[in-house]
Amino acid sequence: MSLLSVSDLTIRADEKILVDRLSFDLDEGERIGLIGESGSGKSLTTLAIMGLLPPGLTAEGSIVLDGTEIVGARERTLNRIRGRAAAPVFQEPRTALDPLMRVGAQIAEPLRLRGARGSALKRAVGDLLAQVALADENRISRAFPHE
Ligand SMILES: Nc1ncnc2c1ncn2[C@@H]1O[C@H](COP(=O)(O)OP(=O)(O)O)[C@@H](O)[C@H]1O
Ligand SMILES: [Mg+2]
Repeated sequence: MSLLSVSDLTIRADEKILVDRLSFDLDEGERIGLIGESGSGKSLTTLAIMGLLPPGLTAEGSIVLDGTEIVGARERTLNRIRGRAAAPVFQEPRTALDPLMRVGAQIAEPLRLRGARGSALKRAVGDLLAQVALADENRISRAFPHE
């Protein structure tokens, strides 16, 4: 079985079909690129794989990721997958990040959900900033995304 298996994925807004019976498989070590004109459904497809479709949009068909069915899954199930089997890199940091939340707190939130606390949490945030060459950890942690 593939690491990711999308079968007959259909995404709708009410009666309007935004993605029409899309199927593809992805195995370990493989990459896939979705190519299509603007508005053809690339972003909605990837959001559906994370179980992150915006309110009002529904997915039908099947998305099996690392052995778990995503379509119709509960938040608890999705939270076990997110950040582990799959993680999104959003296109536009100005809209993907919360503009009112400091950068360090935003990086810390998912780590805290995974159980990190106190000095270990602070160190993990600093390590992640260093990995992307944002080494001035104290200043950047306290900055807002627009800064
Ligand atoms: N929240 C939404 N409600 C209704 N339609 C949406 C919503 N989000 C996206 N769409 C529509 O779904 C289609 C696919 O969008 P999208 O996946 O963002 O395209 P792409 O990433 O390929 O440019 C577009 O026609 C877009 O207008
Ligand atoms: Mg897009």
